Amino acid sequence: MTAAPDNILVDHAEISDEELMEIGLILSMWRNFKMSVYKDKCMKRRVSIRMRSTRCRDAAEYCNLLRQSPLELDLLQKALTIHVSQFFRNPSMFDKLRTEVLPELFGACAAGEADALRICCLGCAGGEEPFSLAILLREHFSREMRTVQTFIQGTDIDAETLRLAQQGEYMEDRLKEVSAELRVRYFRPSGARSRLVPEIRQMVTFLQGDITATAMYAPSNLVLCRNTLIYFTRPDQEKILNGVADILPAGGILVLGKSETLVGDVRRRFEAICPVERIYRRI
Ligand SMILES: C[S@@+](CC[C@H](N)C(=O)[O-])C[C@H]1O[C@@H](n2cnc3c(N)ncnc32)[C@H](O)[C@@H]1O
Repeated sequence: MTAAPDNILVDHAEISDEELMEIGLILSMWRNFKMSVYKDKCMKRRVSIRMRSTRCRDAAEYCNLLRQSPLELDLLQKALTIHVSQFFRNPSMFDKLRTEVLPELFGACAAGEADALRICCLGCAGGEEPFSLAILLREHFSREMRTVQTFIQGTDIDAETLRLAQQGEYMEDRLKEVSAELRVRYFRPSGARSRLVPEIRQMVTFLQGDITATAMYAPSNLVLCRNTLIYFTRPDQEKILNGVADILPAGGILVLGKSETLVGDVRRRFEAICPVERIYRRI
């Protein structure tokens, strides 16, 4: 392949709908990845970043590269599913879970309304969110966990990000919201990274899965689906939210990201218990 000169920059506006569809077909054929569920604008932006990195002049040249390079297919899929996360991202939401939501859910379990507390993080990236919950539970709900079995599961479509999650090792930028006290208690230095102690790592299981196929997820009393829906088209957001509603029992809790909200008819299946933190209860 001929390298593009330095002054060629591929703008996402230059990727036509037809070209995006062609790239989607290649990904679906070779990686079983459904690009059509995500917003076109977002996909075009991410594809153009890969086109620039691979110095392809246009989408046709990039499609040829994709057909020849399994590595580029992996890199593109990774670029399309954004894995930015942080421990205790939006700390005020974790405060709300600690002071209101979790006491209520543990109370319901103790009253025999549920046999265990099952927490599911959909789109969990490198495990920052489920591990933050594990730390929160260990810090504030140890007594409750002696009598109520508690399970935390993180799911994501990306196998590589889940492999990193299982290692439980993090660079500094992921730990900005972790207090000095919690760092000492739950992290150990590991080269340039910090590694979670086994006590916390063992509290979370990970499962590779596609959020658009929620039928595979186990029933949960608390589902977090934060900063993930935002990348999907509105009809797919609604489909995903209906799938989530199906795995939550009445009284179960759903938490969305700060810039996400319930859309369409699925709003009838929830009541908002804290609109600011995007926390909803299944009716
Ligand atoms: C921006 S991260 C959000 C991480 C975390 N929930 C948070 O709020 O910090 C979005 C995650 O959604 C995952 N994701 C994207 N499409 C998905 C799909 N179809 N099924 C499951 N996970 C998906 C990505 O792989 C990525 O790890």
